[in-house]
Amino acid sequence: MLEVTQLKTWFPVKKGFFGKTRYVKAVDDVSFTLSRREVLAVIGESGSGKTTLGRTVLRLIKPTGGRILFDKKDVTYMPESRLKWYRFATAMIFQDPFGSLNPYHTVQYILEEPLILRGVPPSERREKVVRALDDVRLTPPEDFLKKYPHMLSGGQRQRVGIARALITRPSLVVADEPVSMLDVSIRAEILSLMRSLQAKFDIAMVYITHDIATAKYLSDKILVMYAGKMVEYGTFRDVIREPLHPYTQALIEALPDPDPSNRFTKRKVPPGEPPSLINPPPGCRFHPRCPYAIRGKCDVEEPPLVEVKERKVACWLY
Ligand SMILES: Nc1ncnc2c1ncn2[C@@H]1O[C@H](COP(=O)(O)OP(=O)(O)OP(=O)(O)O)[C@@H](O)[C@H]1O
Ligand code: SF4
Ligand SMILES: [Mg+2]
Repeated sequence: MLEVTQLKTWFPVKKGFFGKTRYVKAVDDVSFTLSRREVLAVIGESGSGKTTLGRTVLRLIKPTGGRILFDKKDVTYMPESRLKWYRFATAMIFQDPFGSLNPYHTVQYILEEPLILRGVPPSERREKVVRALDDVRLTPPEDFLKKYPHMLSGGQRQRVGIARALITRPSLVVADEPVSMLDVSIRAEILSLMRSLQAKFDIAMVYITHDIATAKYLSDKILVMYAGKMVEYGTFRDVIREPLHPYTQALIEALPDPDPSNRFTKRKVPPGEPPSLINPPPGCRFHPRCPYAIRGKCDVEEPPLVEVKERKVACWLY
């Protein structure tokens, strides 16, 4: 349903008055496919390009290169005037349940607004709103209709955010760190709710997170990003059981409560910070932090994405 090929989103930055334009290569050659009812987790540290990838896929940002096919239609460079159907077919769930809901609107209006935009007649709107609240388990729905966002807890607000995204029955949803600002105790509940609604409504979902531990609640596939590059891509089960890329291994090693079924031996998380995207390290972008870096190779040549054990990995070890 969604086919993303070698997607690039580069942001131009000017250096000095006569300076050459350089680019922040936030998304640099990312490819994946997603079918209806599938969830892809996009994992990576802060600044690795996850949000940019999600927003580009939804065409909220114009790509620099590559291709986005949605239901076989090429939306990569489709002008805004012809994108209305794509806007209607897609939705986004945001990180901040406080900032993403208009504080002056009631829950009822927040949920009705996308329906109004789509021309749903008033007679049908209330019923849809009530059903949407019921779907996200804000019950009884009548108790929530007249409430304002500040009267709700963080978890309840995010439920409203989810209801708003799904009320129009989109077929593709990007959820950008939807639980990272919520209390740890309710994260699993919200993620499980998203999983059940995603399956119920046949939604394809891109779940963006820096926390690989939360991905287990809803992911079928996983795409690991490092400094704008995809470094590993495969089914969630395979990648968690046996991560191949040293960076994926480090992310899994860093989990506070590692899955005891993991067979790999204990390794230390590599020290250091993710690199600058304006001037990334040559060769493999991970080489300054990689315990296995091969001198003269990893710091010179960029590893291609190769197929190993039914997944894709970009590392010279394979
Ligand atoms: N509009 C923009 N103009 C210039 N640079 C941008 C723009 N948006 C993002 N960037 C840069 O692109 C890089 C990737 O940012 P992005 O927000 O996609 O990362 P992220 O993985 O979502 O990070 P986080 O986990 O902190 O949300 C960063 O270096 C960021 O500063
Ligand atoms: S290509 Fe080299 S530096 Fe990069 S992850 Fe593989 S071993 Fe490490
Ligand atoms: Mg982000």
